[in-house]
Amino acid sequence: MGAGSVGGYVGGCLQAAGAEVHFVGRPRTLEAWQAHGLRVTDQDGRDQTVPPGALKLSASVPDGLAPSLVVLTVKCGATREAAAALGAALPAGTPVLSLQNGLGNAEAGAEAAPGLRWLAGMVPYNIAEVGPGHLHRGTGGQLAAEDDPAVRAWLPAFEAARLRLKLHADLRPVQWGKLLLNLNNAINALSGRPLRAELMERGYRQVFAALQREALAALAAAGIEPAQVAAVAPRRMPILLSLPDWLFHRVAKRMLRIDPQARSSMADDLALGRRTEVDALCGEVVRLARSHGLQAPLNERIQALIEAWPQQPGPLAPAELKARLGWR
Ligand SMILES: NC(=O)c1ccc[n+]([C@@H]2O[C@H](COP(=O)([O-])OP(=O)(O)OC[C@H]3O[C@@H](n4cnc5c(N)ncnc54)[C@H](OP(=O)(O)O)[C@@H]3O)[C@@H](O)[C@H]2O)c1
Repeated sequence: MGAGSVGGYVGGCLQAAGAEVHFVGRPRTLEAWQAHGLRVTDQDGRDQTVPPGALKLSASVPDGLAPSLVVLTVKCGATREAAAALGAALPAGTPVLSLQNGLGNAEAGAEAAPGLRWLAGMVPYNIAEVGPGHLHRGTGGQLAAEDDPAVRAWLPAFEAARLRLKLHADLRPVQWGKLLLNLNNAINALSGRPLRAELMERGYRQVFAALQREALAALAAAGIEPAQVAAVAPRRMPILLSLPDWLFHRVAKRMLRIDPQARSSMADDLALGRRTEVDALCGEVVRLARSHGLQAPLNERIQALIEAWPQQPGPLAPAELKARLGWR
């Protein structure tokens, strides 16, 4: 539900491995898939195509569908509307796994469609549409989901599809671990550069580290220990990010194993004038900090910069970004 980068990649891999998948998405996306088929590739050599004739595509949730698992892959701002559409069309109790960023999607879904069973999930890697109907995973990692019988039943299909999926009794620490990494999305969007090129620049990394420090302070105040989602433990990440370029380029080789063209999808959202997920990321840090008597001023300011984007002159170089944030 929400056939785009994540839905197309995960669904395409599953279908290429023999699973029955039904994609619900926007006509502009589905028309491209119908014309070109759905091709999924990754940095480990995957290259599979589901031909147009084998794709089941629709612009709304078809009546009479009774899936054993729904994977929700809309952007955070679209969760409630998509959840309501699912709730109106699917049998009560249908499990829905949110493979979205941020923390509150399963809860928002449950409010909009209380009859369905809502489960939290996490996608650690970057997926981009690199051509019509062609989705490419440009970084590594393993999917995560709440441990539930409905997801457990799908483990063999995920394994056959070479989609590594780890189940967790409590996904919250994993979601926070991912959110700490997603704090770079806003910086990446404002930089106007591909992810790898942006991370090669110490000025951007210093801002990223500062956003993480604010988040880590709020998490410590809340008694939440974020899980390690990347190659480095969350509390060591700001130290690593702050290293001088020559040293960072040497010690962060695994972190920099990113395809040169990979970008945060927030950059695309800005370019296309769409609503971004900044409130579900930086905004979540600001709310957690406030609820524990703290402030997260840099997260607050970068959220304001993203939300004011149409009034911005264009991509910001590291020094310009720092100046806009009132960096001292
Ligand atoms: N892409 C990545 O690298 C990546 C990695 C990790 C996590 N994530 C997270 O995964 C989630 C999905 O991201 P994405 O990049 O896959 O987004 P995406 O490419 O924009 O795909 C979502 C698609 O769902 C459509 N949609 C929204 N509401 C719908 C509805 N009610 N019915 C049918 N289709 C609907 C959207 O259309 P509209 O544009 O018209 O709304 C869009 O085409 C986000 O939370 C994101 O942060 C993404």
